[in-house]
Order: sequence, then C-alpha cells, then structure tokens
Amino acid sequence: MRLVVLASGSGSNLQALIDAIHRDELPVQILAVGSDRPGTYALERSAAAGLETFVVDYRSFPDRAAWDAALLEAVLGFQPDYVLSSGFMRIVGADFIGAFPRRYLNTHPALLPAFPGAHGVRDALAYGVKVTGCTVMYADEGVDTGPIIAQRAIDVLPEDDETSLHERIKAAERELLIQVLRDLAAQ
Ligand code: GAR
Repeated sequence: MRLVVLASGSGSNLQALIDAIHRDELPVQILAVGSDRPGTYALERSAAAGLETFVVDYRSFPDRAAWDAALLEAVLGFQPDYVLSSGFMRIVGADFIGAFPRRYLNTHPALLPAFPGAHGVRDALAYGVKVTGCTVMYADEGVDTGPIIAQRAIDVLPEDDETSLHERIKAAERELLIQVLRDLAAQ
C-alpha cells in the first residue's frame, strides 16, 4: 500500500506507523508526509526517518479553494493508493475527497458520532462520559462525519485529565490504525 500521510501536530501516531513498518509488521510504503504549516514535530520526525516531506501552507494562499487545489496537486504527484489524515487539523474540499473515494482515511480520539472536532478528548471529559475511545473512518467533507471503519472503547478514569486520557486513547488509536491499514493492504 502506497500511502501519503497528512499531519499537523506532533505526529506520534505517524511515528507508530513508521516504527511498525521498520519492524516489518505493516506492509505499507509511506511515500511522503505533508503538513499545512512548516515546523511541525510530525515533519521533523518524518525527516529523521528519511521520509520525503512537503508543506502546503494555508497562509500562503488567497483562499480555501486555492489551498485545496495546491494540496490535491501535491498529493496526486505521489500517486498514492491511500491518503491518511493523522492529526491533520484541516478539512479538505470536495475535489480532494472526490479524488480519493474511500481512499482518504482519518482518525479521531472519540467514539464518533460523539464529540467530533478539534477537542474530542476535552469535550468528552467535560460532558462527563465514563467511556470514550477512538475511531478510524473514511474522511468526507464534514468534520469527522465519514463512514466508520473501526472503533475501540476506553474507560474514563476518575483521575483523568485531558492529557492522561488522550495518551491512553492514542495508545489504542495506534493499534487500531495499524490493524485497519493491515486489513486494507491485504484487500
Ligand atoms: C490524534 O489523537 C488524532 O486522533 C487527533 O489528533 C491527534 C494527533 O496526534 N485528531 C483529531 O482530533 C481530528 N479531529 P499526533 O499528532 O500525536 O499523532
């Protein structure tokens, strides 16, 4: 499976993929890692792993459509089988989704459709749920609304804060993501 990964943040889930590939546990080739802004830790990790990186900085474009078109062109240039949003905190447009039908994957740190958006862990804690988790889904044009592929539940502990809960969710998220990618690669 030829994969392009898009990431905006620390890239810890991406690192788990890189490590699994290096251990020969995941039959995936990461063609490149892209970001919507320079200087992210995800880009640093990728460069350290010898991966090609690219930035399509949303601040360099006059509007959303122009940024979208540039991102699509950059990703298409790698001819990936799949694109993975791994903490990529930007919604892409219809053309991008249309170019990768059921080929653009996303993960989210909550049990969708509960708590979509940029603060899934914080929102679940604030609501007071006792169980939350993670979701791997096909991305669409909405905010965390695409068809669900797999989910895993995590208990919320009384002493949890956002950081501790997110860390436990991410541990499950990494396993789930690797499992989903393995299954898709085997199809
Ligand atoms: C992950 O938990 C991912 O699910 C979340 O961002 C984190 C990225 O962590 N994505 C969203 O909240 C999307 N709505 P990482 O950069 O350390 O891999």
